[in-house]
Amino acid sequence: MNVAEAIASRRSVRDFLPDPVPLSLVTRILAEAGRAPSGSNLQPWRVHVLAGASRDRLVGAVHEAMEHSPRGQSPDHQIHPETMSPLEQARYKRAAELVYGAAGIDRDDMTARIGHLARSWSFFGAPVGLVFTVERRLQPGQWADIGMYMQNVMLLALEYGIASCAQEAWALWGGLVRDVLGLDADHIVYSGMALGHPRVDAPINCFRSERAVLDEYVTIYEE
Ligand SMILES: Cc1cc2nc3c(=O)[nH]c(=O)nc-3n(C[C@H](O)[C@H](O)[C@H](O)COP(=O)(O)O)c2cc1C
Repeated sequence: MNVAEAIASRRSVRDFLPDPVPLSLVTRILAEAGRAPSGSNLQPWRVHVLAGASRDRLVGAVHEAMEHSPRGQSPDHQIHPETMSPLEQARYKRAAELVYGAAGIDRDDMTARIGHLARSWSFFGAPVGLVFTVERRLQPGQWADIGMYMQNVMLLALEYGIASCAQEAWALWGGLVRDVLGLDADHIVYSGMALGHPRVDAPINCFRSERAVLDEYVTIYEE
């Protein structure tokens, strides 16, 4: 698989088989992803790998907390912009339509939507969960660097036959994640990521997300 093929075929997987992923493979992916570029080579990414009992402990703690906060706690960082342009609103709505539509969840069915959240906070069933934290003092440039690292992780995972889903939804449990992992208060939970073997015929894994055409985001200055 070449780079273009890998970029084109990566997709967010939201239903995983319980089949284990060897930790040696996870650490290999994380080490290789470390070749990601970063401003002034600061390499600001911090990754917490959760597998086995530690994964189950975090998922268990979230599910217990969901009994009184079914939609999570106040987020560690603002996940979406405070105001969205009409174009962003349309993309946001379409992305949700595709996920919920594929999962057979009615937009107004709050119980089913909470069920989806619960699956999301189980890493969608994946045996390995990653949590990406960022120190509060770091700036937007470093957050962008972490995004590049995350894309490397997802593409390398694909190369090794492992599916992924980045999960900013974990930012809604920042306080609890810090408690379970013993992290200081200045470590913001930016995103989680599920890693595992996909349930290939699960409907939620079978739709293709959409993309804008080049003209919507590229301006060419020729003269
Ligand atoms: C930083 C980041 C956070 C994300 N968080 C979530 C999430 O919490 N839950 C989810 O279902 N998908 C999440 N996604 C996946 C996006 O919804 C997905 O990338 C987008 O819809 C495009 O689909 P694709 O990845 O299949 O191409 C996240 C993606 C990124 C890059």
